Amino acid sequence: MDTEIVILNQDNIDKSVIKRAGDILKAGGLVAFPTETVYGLGGDALNPESSRKIYAAKGRPSDNPLIVHIATMDALRKIVTDIPDGALKLASRFWPGPLTMIFNKNELVPRETTGGLDTVAVRMPSDKIAAALIEAAGGYIAAPSANLSGRPSPTVAKYVIEDMDGRIDMIIDGGDSEVGLESTIVDFTAGEPMILRPGYITKEMLEEALSQDVSIDKAIIDTNSKTPPKAPGMKYRHYAPKGELAIIEGDSEAVIAEINRLSEEASLAGLKTGVIATEETKARYHADSVKSVGHAGREDEVAHHLFRILREFDDEGIEKMYSESFADSGVGAAVMNRLLKAAGHKVIKL
Ligand code: TXA
Ligand code: MG
Repeated sequence: MDTEIVILNQDNIDKSVIKRAGDILKAGGLVAFPTETVYGLGGDALNPESSRKIYAAKGRPSDNPLIVHIATMDALRKIVTDIPDGALKLASRFWPGPLTMIFNKNELVPRETTGGLDTVAVRMPSDKIAAALIEAAGGYIAAPSANLSGRPSPTVAKYVIEDMDGRIDMIIDGGDSEVGLESTIVDFTAGEPMILRPGYITKEMLEEALSQDVSIDKAIIDTNSKTPPKAPGMKYRHYAPKGELAIIEGDSEAVIAEINRLSEEASLAGLKTGVIATEETKARYHADSVKSVGHAGREDEVAHHLFRILREFDDEGIEKMYSESFADSGVGAAVMNRLLKAAGHKVIKL
């Protein structure tokens, strides 16, 4: 398949391109597009054939449900059986934005889109290109992250092209994703609100907006948990770079010394090494590739850069990677969730 690649400017969106992309989606085709979290691989959410094509293009297991992207609250009302009060509160505070909520679906949403579930995940993105495209496509775009299954989510179009060129109809390049990590997922279908995937909208922000406690799916925190995570996608090994990544945790000076020691050891064994450092520490490391993921203590910067850096290490053929550890409060909870997955939970505590 020939994939058309187009560049759009967030501040001056070419309407003829949006119209063409919308027509592709309405006809059952696939279009990758930017959002404020990561790039999405879009198809018409109400067309079962489109959802089948999405799974095929990603090489994704079809029991892993897709998120339905909308542009208006009216669109939400049409596809769910009820909207809990808490969900309305969160929608008015955080939509459009990097928040996904789980609802009980009605018959308009095909099971192909929800991986066989009676519930549906819905998000209203704030990215202007995404919003325009959703309207042009008829109101509902099913979109997982636009990576091949198992690879880090793309936050720049270059990596969408790397994974999806030749597999889908169109790729829209809209620049860097602002947030850099996938949306926070909150479930309301089991009564009390529960976080199924941490993201940029933190537990504290949700609790403040709802004036109540919000729990986190235990399977996410306890990696030895026997119960599977409630978001089926969280059970898969995800965000994996091609090389091997370890997280080194401890006092800053000790971490620097240990990473340098490990990296020298790997070098002597003939392996290409990479380090994930901060602006403050990057000059202290000796490795084939040292990358700054942002300023120390700025977990939002780490979120923005992390997935791109993992992809760059792949491009450079890095075989052994070492990362500093980050605070796991606020946005840091989402950063550490993704970093731990990328490392296959390999943590060296000093
Ligand atoms: O930021 C995002 O959410 C990005 C952009 C493109 O919007 N999308 C994204 O989609 O990350 P994806 O498919 O990579 O991740 C969707 C996650 C999976 O873990 C999936 O299992 C979960 O959402 N999910 C979807 N529908 C669900 C449902 N009905 N119940 C529980 N989890 C659900
Ligand atoms: Mg994904």
